[in-house]
Amino acid sequence: MAGSGAELDPDDLPDGLVIAGADGRVVCFNSAATRLTGIAPGAALGSPLAAALPLEDLDGRRWWQLTDPYGGLATRTGQPERNLLLPGGREVLVSARYVRERPCGALLRVVIALRGTEERRRTERSHAELIATVAHELRSPLTSVKGFTATLLAKWERFTDGQKRLMLETVDADADRVTRLIAELLDISRIDAGRLEVRKQVVDLAAAVRRHVDGKVAAGIPEDRFDIRITEPLTQLWADPDKVDQVLGNLLENAVRHGEGTVTIEVAPAKEVVEAPVWERPGTPPRVLEGTAVTVSDEGGGIPEESMPRVFTRFWRGSKRGGTGLGLYIVKGIVEAHGGSIRVDRAPGGGARFRFILPAGVPDFML
Ligand SMILES: Nc1ncnc2c1ncn2[C@@H]1O[C@H](COP(=O)(O)OP(=O)(O)OP(=O)(O)O)[C@@H](O)[C@H]1O
Ligand SMILES: [Mg+2]
Repeated sequence: MAGSGAELDPDDLPDGLVIAGADGRVVCFNSAATRLTGIAPGAALGSPLAAALPLEDLDGRRWWQLTDPYGGLATRTGQPERNLLLPGGREVLVSARYVRERPCGALLRVVIALRGTEERRRTERSHAELIATVAHELRSPLTSVKGFTATLLAKWERFTDGQKRLMLETVDADADRVTRLIAELLDISRIDAGRLEVRKQVVDLAAAVRRHVDGKVAAGIPEDRFDIRITEPLTQLWADPDKVDQVLGNLLENAVRHGEGTVTIEVAPAKEVVEAPVWERPGTPPRVLEGTAVTVSDEGGGIPEESMPRVFTRFWRGSKRGGTGLGLYIVKGIVEAHGGSIRVDRAPGGGARFRFILPAGVPDFML
């Protein structure tokens, strides 16, 4: 490294770094290692590794005796990341690399990386929260189903046909809600795992928008609540038609349910600079996205500025007219799985405005 101008100061590393030399004594103990272990560099430097960094596994066994980098098999090249304990119960994530003269040769150095466990704890906590929320969301429709079926079974003769029908309709609607919730959860787990399948074919976005609006009108929403504006010519779009339907369905449903007034849907060619999605590596630069944009705006109360960054997170809901708060999370997942981008802002009339762009992609069979 020397001379390249890129000399690395171990204290600049975000992770803890401990290096022991060929004789097993510590030659480097950076400041992140001190922060994570509470051990002063002065106490560690020059001491044998096992004394300087007295790690134990979760069963209380001494880690260095178990792994024995200096005495163990010469084929070993290191240790994968593991959760270990320091005296006093401090937890650290530890991984190690055994640097050898040549493969299977004498050990030159043991390089140990240390990490805090907070990040992992945070993920665990967010999983636990997700499970709690899901259980809660599933329980209320199931409680209602159970209540009505139990009542009907116990007192069948005492109800009129009309009352029975009403109860069965409620049961039916609640069963639908559970089914939908489970379908949404499956989508979410696929999105989270990056396994959402996109089967591309030619999609006529303008026709899809008209079809969705016709559906809403057929369901009893006045026709004059919708204003469709198509800007031709639109480039041919390759996308998954079912997934595009899910996106349009949720955005229109939201505009009608959470918004007010006229819902304007614009479909137009677009070429825009968009931010990289959060799951890309940090620092991934914005890119130019060219394709078709759909903008759905309404004239309701909109989404408060401070909540905008949160609308696409799962289970976030602003109003009490809510569903489960999963819709927009799935919408974003689908749009990004297509290589597209979605954002929210305020419509000129004050309501919410959602705008997504799907890239003028190529069909799967050409990839
Ligand atoms: N057009 C809109 N105007 C005002 N608020 C909106 C609009 N669209 C969404 N929101 C707010 O964003 C929240 C999240 O929307 P999202 O679609 O994710 O969930 P949901 O509609 O509540 O439930 P789901 O779609 O799962 O049935 C909504 O609860 C609502 O408060
Ligand atoms: Mg919704």
